[in-house]
Amino acid sequence: MASSINRMSVVLFLAMAAAIMLTTVHGQGTRVGFYSTTCPSVETTVRSAVQSRFGSDPTVMAGLLRMHFHDCFVQGCDGSVLISGTGTERTAIPNLSLNGFTVVDDAKAQLEAACPGVVSCADILALAARDAVVLANGPTWAVPTGRRDGTVSRAQDALDNLPGPSDSVESQIQKFTDRNLSVQDLVTLTGGHTLGTASCATFNDRLFNYQGTGGPDPSIAADFLPTLRSACPQNNNGAARVAMDTGSQNEFDTSYYTNIRNGRGVLESDQRLWTDNRTGPFVGRFLGLGGGPNLNFNAEFGQAMVRMGNVGVRTGTDGEIRRVCSAVN
Ligand code: HEM
Ligand SMILES: *[C@@H]1O[C@H](CO)[C@@H](O)[C@H](O)[C@H]1NC(C)=O
Ligand SMILES: *[C@@H]1O[C@H](CO)[C@@H](O)[C@H](O)[C@H]1NC(C)=O
Ligand SMILES: *[C@@H]1O[C@H](CO)[C@@H](O)[C@H](O)[C@H]1NC(C)=O
Repeated sequence: MASSINRMSVVLFLAMAAAIMLTTVHGQGTRVGFYSTTCPSVETTVRSAVQSRFGSDPTVMAGLLRMHFHDCFVQGCDGSVLISGTGTERTAIPNLSLNGFTVVDDAKAQLEAACPGVVSCADILALAARDAVVLANGPTWAVPTGRRDGTVSRAQDALDNLPGPSDSVESQIQKFTDRNLSVQDLVTLTGGHTLGTASCATFNDRLFNYQGTGGPDPSIAADFLPTLRSACPQNNNGAARVAMDTGSQNEFDTSYYTNIRNGRGVLESDQRLWTDNRTGPFVGRFLGLGGGPNLNFNAEFGQAMVRMGNVGVRTGTDGEIRRVCSAVN
């Protein structure tokens, strides 16, 4: 009897230790409602800052979502993308939503007035990205908070760590698995391209002389090529922008997956997700085409965003709470 109780307590102890280890090993320690007593207005303040900007410029949704992704992939989700100045991450990313930066700055100013020194810039960005998706008629999800801000922001880190539009599927998978995100997370999160636009500079190489062939990328659908070529004529300066989800760039939906299935992907990295046998089945499952149980894009996206939002986070006494989001204290 005594020994079985002992055994039970050992088992219990091991289970608890394992649970504690799991939470620390994944660098988490963020939780939903982290500010519920210290700054209860945080969610409504961020939401209204996003909403008011959205009224004058709906492209801000895509900007905020992309900024949170970039933040998480470079130095972890620590607000480092928001720091301005020569040689910072911000300077490495072509035309990263200026609009998005000012939304975060607005929310931060209001929160500093209400509860000084409490809410991190990294958390404001994570909340704003969720609110942006909601405004685009996408899903909502509970955002764990408690991230702290980092103090390092280097352009070179952004260049080294961010996936690029010509990346192979192999390289995309590697960049996600390096951050404990799965192949399914890759397909789900790049579904963020249901919103927003890409500049011609990011896919010009596909249109006229793909890999020195003197012709277009053969994976572009024949009836889509003229659309891309007229938006981005030969020898353009790269600045014009094209919806990544043709016909539905302001609506959060699965038509991005339908487009890549039909050879109507704009970025080469996106188009490849359909043809590769590791990623293609997930695209098929979002579209209910078989290859495994159907996947619900809205539900999966929220869960994957929570996982992405935990990449490399600083919690506890690590990092700082920045006073202004564009500069370290
Ligand atoms: C393999 C991964 C990815 C690659 C290679 C990639 C690449 C790109 C590129 C090249 C652009 C166009 C940039 C420009 O020309 O201004 C873009 C835009 C965008 N990306 Fe990604 N991306 C990836 C993953 C993600 C993820 C995980 C998200 C969010 C969850 C995301 C959200 C966005 C959004 C919303 C835009 C539109 C921005 C706007 O219209 O202002 N991307 N991405
Ligand atoms: C990924 O998980 C490993 C082990 O669980 C952990 O050591 C590492 O810090 C995590 N990486 C990131 C970027 O969160
Ligand atoms: C960024 O925006 C500026 C001004 O709108 C434009 O001149 C430039 O070509 C853009 N760069 C890219 C890579 O889209
Ligand atoms: C994908 O195809 C390659 C080459 O045909 C094969 O070796 C590999 O096992 C396949 N992988 C999956 C996940 O189906």
